[in-house]
Amino acid sequence: MAKYFVLFGPPGVGKGTQAERLQKELKLAHVATGDLFRDHLKRETDLGQLARSYMERGALVPDDVTIGMVRERMKDADTQNGMLLDGFPRTIAQAEALDRLLAEKGDKIQHVLFVNAPKQVLLERLGSRWTCKQCGKVYNALSQPPKVHGVCDDCSGEVYQRPDDKPEVQEKRINVYLEQTAPLIEYFRGLGQLTEINGVQSVDQVYSDLMKAIERSGQ
Ligand code: AP5
Ligand code: MG
Repeated sequence: MAKYFVLFGPPGVGKGTQAERLQKELKLAHVATGDLFRDHLKRETDLGQLARSYMERGALVPDDVTIGMVRERMKDADTQNGMLLDGFPRTIAQAEALDRLLAEKGDKIQHVLFVNAPKQVLLERLGSRWTCKQCGKVYNALSQPPKVHGVCDDCSGEVYQRPDDKPEVQEKRINVYLEQTAPLIEYFRGLGQLTEINGVQSVDQVYSDLMKAIERSGQ
């Protein structure tokens, strides 16, 4: 049976960092809606143009657009054994749509892994994050810089600061998370699917806690 995990948490908590490791261990497709939008931006598609106007100001892209994009991604062969979702769902409407999409395949979400950290930690991490423009690999200027300044270790792509990591947009994204996405915590808790993980630990320790939570859930 296919497996579906959701990596849930505020901007900058480390979802992408953990997903890179988890997807290898769990052998699941990593489906990150932020990465999918950034890929559309790079390819200058109509969807990318539309998403840009929301992403640049730290707002959520409308639900119908986001859900449609995930529905398309779910047709790809690499998702047939399941997915590690990162940054989706982000609203109740998205969560309900995901349930419907999975139910059509006779599947459901196995586990929501909620990584959490206080706002000050999020701002520090976002302020020092650098990202590969080509492959999306995440770095940190303070704790995890690329070996050669500005160059991705994996693909030699350009390492840049995401436009939505500017201070004024960071703050907005955290507020949007608190208003529109945090209500999902109770939604998932109500379904008995949620485990909370302390994100204020080393990358290795967070990873270890995530794996323990997955093992405990018997998945
Ligand atoms: P998205 O790309 O999903 O951004 P986000 O949720 O704001 O999350 P981030 O990618 O900023 O943080 P992260 O948790 O992945 O942290 P990371 O691992 O990079 O979304 C961007 C935009 O796209 C949204 O604002 C919206 O406009 C749109 N969008 C996306 N999905 C959408 C949806 N479903 N609906 C509508 N719109 C959507 O780590 C951050 C930094 O911390 C890095 O430098 C890392 O090295 C460092 N770090 C990580 N872990 C640790 C640790 N344990 N200790 C120290 N440093 C650490
Ligand atoms: Mg991310």
